[in-house]
Amino acid sequence: MNFTTAEKIFSQTGNGRNGLPAWTFNNEELNQLEIERIFLRNWFWVGHVSDIPNPGDYKCQDLANERAVVIKGEDGEVRAFHNLCRHRGSRVVGEETGNCKKAIVCPFHGWSYHLDGGLRSIPHAKTFPDIDKSQYGLKPVDCEVWHGLIFIRFQGDGASVAETFAEAEEEISLYNLADMKPYDEPWHYDFDLDWKAVLDIDNEGYHVPIGHPGLFDLFGSSYQDQVLESGIKRSHGYLKDYPCKTPLVQNYIDTLPAQSYLPESHQRIWIYWSAFPGFVITLMPDMIEVYQTYSLGYQKSIMAGACYALADDRVAMQKTREFNREINQVVGDEDIKLVKWSDQGMRSSVYESALLSDLELGIAAFQNQLRRVLPVVTLAQPPEAGKLASKNTELESTL
Ligand code: FES
Ligand SMILES: [Fe+2]
Repeated sequence: MNFTTAEKIFSQTGNGRNGLPAWTFNNEELNQLEIERIFLRNWFWVGHVSDIPNPGDYKCQDLANERAVVIKGEDGEVRAFHNLCRHRGSRVVGEETGNCKKAIVCPFHGWSYHLDGGLRSIPHAKTFPDIDKSQYGLKPVDCEVWHGLIFIRFQGDGASVAETFAEAEEEISLYNLADMKPYDEPWHYDFDLDWKAVLDIDNEGYHVPIGHPGLFDLFGSSYQDQVLESGIKRSHGYLKDYPCKTPLVQNYIDTLPAQSYLPESHQRIWIYWSAFPGFVITLMPDMIEVYQTYSLGYQKSIMAGACYALADDRVAMQKTREFNREINQVVGDEDIKLVKWSDQGMRSSVYESALLSDLELGIAAFQNQLRRVLPVVTLAQPPEAGKLASKNTELESTL
């Protein structure tokens, strides 16, 4: 793996050790541009193949004004379409998840579509002029299944998910992700603040010893964040082999049984792989957790995820997984509190910007990626109202 250095990352920020200026965490025009340029144009994780195991099973995902449905075809293929009827634009499926049997039937006037998106039938077809059915299928959305994880991309092109994670491939392949099944219900946290403020907590492990005493007890000082030259990140911590202060953590370590399919090197380690803008996959010996942070609009963001695990009916494994969820629930609650406090601080009249340590290189690396897409965030002050997008275009032309 080709890791970069903190020195190199900080040399690219344009403002040394300072983070993004405070205004970038509270600007509606910037948020709009982030949705258009970042979220709609990058891969967006929607679930796992085991979430839609049968033909006709579907899962919906809205993002800004776009709506997608991911559906399993009769041929076993997973496809994604705009959840948009070709008649008058209704959603063709209305529930978040479900099964539409042999056809997708629009709930408005009943146009129906095959599971591969092709137009199947139109009620009272004779009342329409001659229609070339092949031109009226559901509109496709880019879709990629990577190790059983389903991603969609509404616009743009660029590297596939597999290409993005090429350097993680060898490690991720160890975990048999595609064979996993959902463990527990999906979860989400909603925030009335900017998505970047939420994400920053996830981009660094500097806060782990103080902010997450239980997690720190799990890893000791072995926890480390690394950034690869390609931009993806890898953080990891080895499970301690000496006594813990937290009974829950000690229980997890003591109960965790060996996993026959994992090599010795991966039996006692948690690894977090992440990619821009806000996707994270946590590889743990007993299960994986996948989640992402994204914007729902101005001052509205969400962190949403789910856990998946291989079938394993050993009692010890079941107990371990329960301990795992408890540990991560505590970590999540701690992060929520810290995210809110730092966001409140950024609204203060005296806040200038963050001062970042080598241990926060993940924040700087993320912000560098953001600066490349939206150079307007390099400005110390926000552009005049109504001018942010044009200012960004102007700055792009100077890159
Ligand atoms: S909008 Fe779908 S059938 Fe009319
Ligand atoms: Fe945290």
